[in-house]
Parts: sequence; C-alpha cells; structure tokens
Amino acid sequence: MPSVSERTRNLGTEHAFVVLAEVNRLVAQGGDIISFAIGQPDFATPPNICDAAKRAIDQGHHGYTPSAGIPELREAVVDYLARSRGVTYRPEDITVANGAKPFIMYTLLAVTDHGVGHEVLYPRPGFPIYDSQIIASGARPVALPLLESEAFSFSIDELASLINANTRLLILNSPHNPTGRSLAQPEIGDIADILRDFPQCWVLSDEVYSRMVHDGEFASIAGEPGMQERTILLDGASKSYAMTGWRLGYAANVPLAPYFSTWITNTDSCANSIAQWAGVEALNGDQTEHQRMMASFTRRRDRIVAGLNGLDGVRALRPGGAFYIWPNVTELCRLTGMGSAEELRRRWLHEAGVAVLADIQFGVPPQAQEHYVRFSYAVSEAQIDEGIRRLRDWIQAVR
Ligand SMILES: Cc1ncc(COP(=O)(O)O)c(C=O)c1O
Repeated sequence: MPSVSERTRNLGTEHAFVVLAEVNRLVAQGGDIISFAIGQPDFATPPNICDAAKRAIDQGHHGYTPSAGIPELREAVVDYLARSRGVTYRPEDITVANGAKPFIMYTLLAVTDHGVGHEVLYPRPGFPIYDSQIIASGARPVALPLLESEAFSFSIDELASLINANTRLLILNSPHNPTGRSLAQPEIGDIADILRDFPQCWVLSDEVYSRMVHDGEFASIAGEPGMQERTILLDGASKSYAMTGWRLGYAANVPLAPYFSTWITNTDSCANSIAQWAGVEALNGDQTEHQRMMASFTRRRDRIVAGLNGLDGVRALRPGGAFYIWPNVTELCRLTGMGSAEELRRRWLHEAGVAVLADIQFGVPPQAQEHYVRFSYAVSEAQIDEGIRRLRDWIQAVR
C-alpha cells in the first residue's frame, strides 16, 4: 500500500467526538447513560431561524455564493460586532465559512510558514483542535498553562516569558472551553499591553461562546486600542443559536479577509447557502429564544456547581461563561484509587453511566499532578441531578 503522510498519521483529533461515538454505541446496546460529554446546546434551533432557511430553499438560494459569504450576512455580522463589541468593520472585512472551526486552520495557514520555527501560543487545557492544527500546519506549539490558582486564566508573567520574536500567533478563547473561564476587560487590557511589544504577533480571538457569559460583560481584545488590525475575531452560530449541525461561522479581520476568502475558494468554495440565510435571521431577528436558552444555561450552571461541590473529593470553581465546568478531581482520584482522570472517566462511563471528558483530552500531559474532568452542562436540570446522584452512589460504592 502507498504510505500515508507523516502529517496525517500524526493528526490529532477532538476527543468529544470519539467519546460521543462510544456513548452512542453503549446506548445502542441498551445502556442508560447521562452524557455530559458533548459541547452542543440541547435546544432546538429557534423557529424564526428555521423559517428563514425554509424560505431560502423556496426562493431558490441553492447555488454557490461568493466565497466570502453573501453580502446580507456580512452586513449583519458588521452590525452585530458593532452592537456587541463596539468595534467597526466593513462587510469586506468579514469572511463566512462552514463553522468557526475551519478558520483555525485558515488562520494558521495565513500567518505561519511550515517548518521555519514560527511559534504559536495557545491555552492548555484548551480546545484540542488548536494544538492538532498548529502541528499539522508545521508551526511550533507553545502551551500557555491555565492555572486553577488564577481561576483558570494564564499568568501574565508567563505570557511575558513565553512570547518572543518568533511568536506569530497568540490564541485566546473566552469564554473558554473546557474551563468556562471568561476573561474580564482589565485582563484583556494586560494581554494587549504585552502584545504591543511584539508587533509581529497576530491574535486569534476565539469568541464562539461570546454570547454565553453568565456574570459580567463579554470583552473582546479587538476592542483594545491598536489590537483590531492584528486580531482575527472568530465567532459563529453553533453555540449561540443551537446551530451546531448547520455549520456557520465567521471571522473578522481587515488584512486577512481576502486571503481567507481565497482559502475558502480552494477548499469549500463557500459556506452552505441555506445556513447563511438562516444566519442573517439569527443575527438580525428576534432574540427571545437565545435569551431563554441562556437563562436556562445559567440555572444549570448554578445547579451543577452546587452538585459537584457536594461530592467527596471534588472541587469546582464557578465558571463565568460557556456551558462547561472543569472540576478538580485529584482528591477523588486519591480516595477511589484512580491513577488518572482518564481512568476515572472510563469507570464513570461503564460503572456509573455518566459520560464526561478527561483532562488529557484537552492537552493536559498524562504526568500532570492535578487531575480534572470536563462536564458540558448542555443537559436538563433533571439530568444534572440524576448524574450527580449516580456519581455520589459510585463514589460511596468504590470507597
Ligand atoms: C473553543 C471552540 N472553538 C471553536 C469551536 C468550533 O465551533 P463551530 O461549530 O462553529 O465550528 C468549538 C466547538 O466546540 C469550540 O469549543
């Protein structure tokens, strides 16, 4: 057989999809699993958005669109970014793709060269696609550790010590997957201060959870003085409007927009046309459903924080955004004789019927001293209660 490239053999993945397949297999075999594993809202896409998509089909919007996206959606994004962040863009600065995820690769391809020592700083723990795409693109990954002692932000001193003349890109993600940490404006101001000494460094600001802030205000680094031009502001419809399967995301950046558009011509040609028309309604239309979902996520957040902190050996900080929580389970592992969070995850799945993800699935090295798991609380309050009950029983039985 002809050989497979090294790049492809070494390609990382997003383990949520692997665990999801495992959970689905167990469920198909009759298993009763409460899954906190996958990061997608459990709500239906709001009806006004579905109606806009149906209209788009009826009106014959079935052809290719411009690679950068339909003008109506690019204009809606410009208005939305001005309303939500106070930043001013033109429609030609916006590029639309099939989800936010493709822009992670487009950004790396646009600002780093293969194998020449360009470094990319990214959060650890973090969305696993950052690290797999940095490596696949031939740049050098440099992890910025997020610390529980800093409420899961990175230390500014550590950023200052790691950034250097070879750093081409800093990836920020707020609210954050998997910790739920939401950066406040003063913290973003401190990051911007450091970046001012490194004018060669771009910023990929992954803001896909920007509309899911429970406490305080969302802040984007694009709004900091002098940062807009070098920031690739990334957002999309998946999380805010329960549209994960529709595949719709966008990036805002003045100098890179034409390059992103050329990348899209080279890959997908354009984002799904029907989803783009639905996206116009999502941004411009009635927001009642989004607000209802968000109120529900905040109630669930409060419930799961209380539930997890009531379990022996578990310590959970209150997340400020998204629908994730990242409890420290080091003490629980010690109490129950588990060598790692991954071992705990497997035992919970097969013995307690509770699915979560483990820290190694977010880039934490297996030899780390502290152990964490990720719960996605995109499940009902009844399921949260039942999941916590099962874990309490399991802990009692194993101890
Ligand atoms: C931090 C982060 N960025 C990007 C994405 C991708 O979102 P999309 O569905 O828009 O591609 C996700 C999805 O889980 C995510 O958690």
